[in-house]
Amino acid sequence: MACAPTLIDVHGRRISYLRISVTDRCDLRCRYCMAEEMTFLPRSEILSLEEMALIAERFIARGTTKIRLTGGEPLVRRDMIDLVRRLGDSIGNGLDELTMTSNGTRLAHHAVALADAGMRRINISLDSRDPETFRHITRHGDIARVLEGVAAAQAAGLRVKINMVALRGLNDREIAPMLRWCVDQDLDLTLIETMPLGAVEADRADHFLPLTDVLADLREQFDLERDDHRSGGPARYWRVKGSGTRLGLISPLTANFCDGCNRVRLTTEGKLYLCLGHEAHVDLKQAIREGGLAAVDEALDAALNIKPRRHDFSVERGSAPAVTRHMSVTGG
Ligand code: GTP
Ligand code: 5AD
Ligand code: SF4
Repeated sequence: MACAPTLIDVHGRRISYLRISVTDRCDLRCRYCMAEEMTFLPRSEILSLEEMALIAERFIARGTTKIRLTGGEPLVRRDMIDLVRRLGDSIGNGLDELTMTSNGTRLAHHAVALADAGMRRINISLDSRDPETFRHITRHGDIARVLEGVAAAQAAGLRVKINMVALRGLNDREIAPMLRWCVDQDLDLTLIETMPLGAVEADRADHFLPLTDVLADLREQFDLERDDHRSGGPARYWRVKGSGTRLGLISPLTANFCDGCNRVRLTTEGKLYLCLGHEAHVDLKQAIREGGLAAVDEALDAALNIKPRRHDFSVERGSAPAVTRHMSVTGG
């Protein structure tokens, strides 16, 4: 095997964070994320868990220190825990952090196994704590299962961060109560601006809520102080004084963070997307199947040259999505 130089893109950014969408499937249908009727990839098209592990290990050999498993919902893929265990073996051996973003519905069954595999932290999507609003946003989700998942993750010793997409007219009045609940439950909270990825029935502009407005509102109700903490992701943090709760803001529309981008995304289908908001990608499935890890290395070198400088999202009324693929394909 040729030497394994670290991954530095054409704009001089070091790539140290790999997000893997282990499945494009999900047991929910969040309105801002998916259309009601979705076509998922046929199983014959997707990477095996072994192929994912081999590719991920190649990233680790080339300087990746953080891996996040996403989807879709990662825990709907059968035998996912095997991948978690396999990648967990690299923690402390090149990998600093193995983590996951989950909708929480199946976490009650898996939390202990995740913690046993070396996971320390998990992000759980929860856009509303009101059962009816939750059911509306997810199109049929049962909040009780998610709350059980949150509790199970905490009981297993995982630090839990709640991800809440801020949606005007849908959950805006719940943001302050959500932060209060997170303080009470010793959870972190990250608020996210809705992003124009893939077609959905609604016009995302109708529900877009700038986090600049949300923050101003929260500062009137909470004693917030800036926190320099960096998780390696795009959030900028605040701390709720006197509590263990961090408030993160992910503001791709109102505060672009692309200059510090350190991440790339592997899809279920084996495509490595270089930006959430662009089509630029290389095909690692073809590389690994036809040329093994040497070909994967070559493809990674080529990928570094085509990583876009920044996304150009817009949520103007009537504007088309930045890319046709949904967040669940790229893995967020
Ligand atoms: P931490 O490790 O806790 O910082 O997590 P994270 O924010 O990196 O991951 P998570 O899966 O919780 O993602 C939260 C939101 O950030 C999702 O909506 C992602 O799509 C979004 N996000 C992550 N990386 C990027 C990025 O490079 N660009 C944009 N526009 N959004 C991103
Ligand atoms: N815009 C912003 N966030 C989104 N998510 C899914 N789709 C979108 C979108 N279009 C969020 C989920 C999850 C995270 C991975 O991304 O709620 O918390
Ligand atoms: Fe599923 Fe997450 Fe998309 Fe909701 S946001 S439909 S939970 S992948």
